[in-house]
This record gives sequence, C-alpha cells and structure tokens, in this order.
Amino acid sequence: MNDRKNGQAPEVMTADRLGQMLTPRQGKQRLVLMVGIPGSGKSTVGDGIEKAGYVRISYDVIRQRLFGDAKEHGEEGQVGRAFREELRAVLTSGKSVLVDNTNFLKDMRTHIIEIARQCGVGDVHLVVMKVPLPLCLERNRARDRVVPTRTVRHMHWKLTGSEWPTREEGRMTIVRPGLRADSGVPTYLVGGFAFAVACTN
Ligand SMILES: Nc1ncnc2c1ncn2[C@@H]1O[C@H](COP(=O)(O)OP(=O)(O)O)[C@@H](O)[C@H]1O
Ligand SMILES: [Mg+2]
Repeated sequence: MNDRKNGQAPEVMTADRLGQMLTPRQGKQRLVLMVGIPGSGKSTVGDGIEKAGYVRISYDVIRQRLFGDAKEHGEEGQVGRAFREELRAVLTSGKSVLVDNTNFLKDMRTHIIEIARQCGVGDVHLVVMKVPLPLCLERNRARDRVVPTRTVRHMHWKLTGSEWPTREEGRMTIVRPGLRADSGVPTYLVGGFAFAVACTN
C-alpha cells in the first residue's frame, strides 16, 4: 500500500474537493467503494463524492427503507438481496455508484465488484478510510446508533490485517483525518490515486 507519490506529503482537502477529483469521466460509469469501520468518516466523505455525480447506496439506507430503521436486520439475507438488486438496477440505468458500506472484508468487495463487471462496469475505485481505532470508537460512542465496541474492534483487526485492500481490486485512494479546520468543515489527508490526480490538475 503506497499512499505517497514522489515522497511528497499527501494533500489536505475537504470531502467536496475529493469528490470533484473522483468525478466520473463523461459517459463513463464508475463504481466507488468506501472501505472503513464505523466512525471512520465514510458517510461524511461520501457526501462529497455523491455530489460529484454518484448514486449512493448502502445497507443502512436499504434497512431504513425496508424496516423504517437502519438498526433492524430483518431475516437472513434479506438486506443483502435488496442491496444487490438495487446495485444492479442503478448500474444498468447507466449511473455511477457509490457504495457506502464498511466493505471491511475482501469477499464483500469482491461480490460487489463482480456485479459491476456483469453490468459492464470495470472502472472500480476504493476510497479507504485509514483512521486510528480510538478515534473511531470515540465517534461511534457519540452517535445515536452505537455499534458495539467489540464489533468495531473486530472489524478494525480484520481490515488492518488480512483484509486490507490490494491494487488488484481497483484504484485506491487512502484517506486519513485532516487537522481540525478553523472553518469547522472536516478536512482529510488524501493520498494515492486522488492525490495523484490533484497533483496533475
Ligand atoms: N475529518 C473529520 N474531522 C472531524 N470529524 C469528522 C471527520 N470526518 C467525520 N467526522 C465525524 O465523525 C463522525 C462519524 O462520521 P461518519 O461519516 O458518520 O462515519 P461512518 O459513516 O464511517 O460511520 C460524524 O460525527 C462526523 O461528523
Ligand atoms: Mg456511515
């Protein structure tokens, strides 16, 4: 995993700026997968990416739609089936898609990437949230919908170990939390593909 280019420091930017850099090329569909544990900032970064021209889909939104509650899991496989149906439908309609799930296991990502390939979409981009566990736990505890601490710890252990994404899965942008901005707008330290784009623009 290399999120530096020519030894330069990655660039600090807002989620909107990152989204602009990931804007799908004219007439080209792209699949963007967020990768990160709860509290890592996926949905906040996802706001900027969605604005750049993506349809955002996630298990949370499917659960909310099916059960009126993002905490409800329903019967075995139900949410996954609805999610895959929606993914196919949006990709078939020709739109670019942002998947705002944790995607912390390689298998989760592989299944989604396979559906995209079946729909003729080969441009796959991973936005990987590299955020320290204590910060994620602190943010998680401050929310309405708290994920159990041991679940978050387990996901972190998996993701930072055997399940860390590789270049074979797609292009990668590594996102770290930026320094707290005076403006109050969250910033991110962005390396990898999006950083390389920023350097050429
Ligand atoms: N760069 C940042 N700086 C400060 N706070 C942030 C930053 N990114 C996200 N947050 C905050 O952290 C919390 C979790 O972010 P969220 O995007 O919901 O994470 P996820 O979708 O990965 O669970 C939110 O309260 C959000 O406002
Ligand atoms: Mg989220």
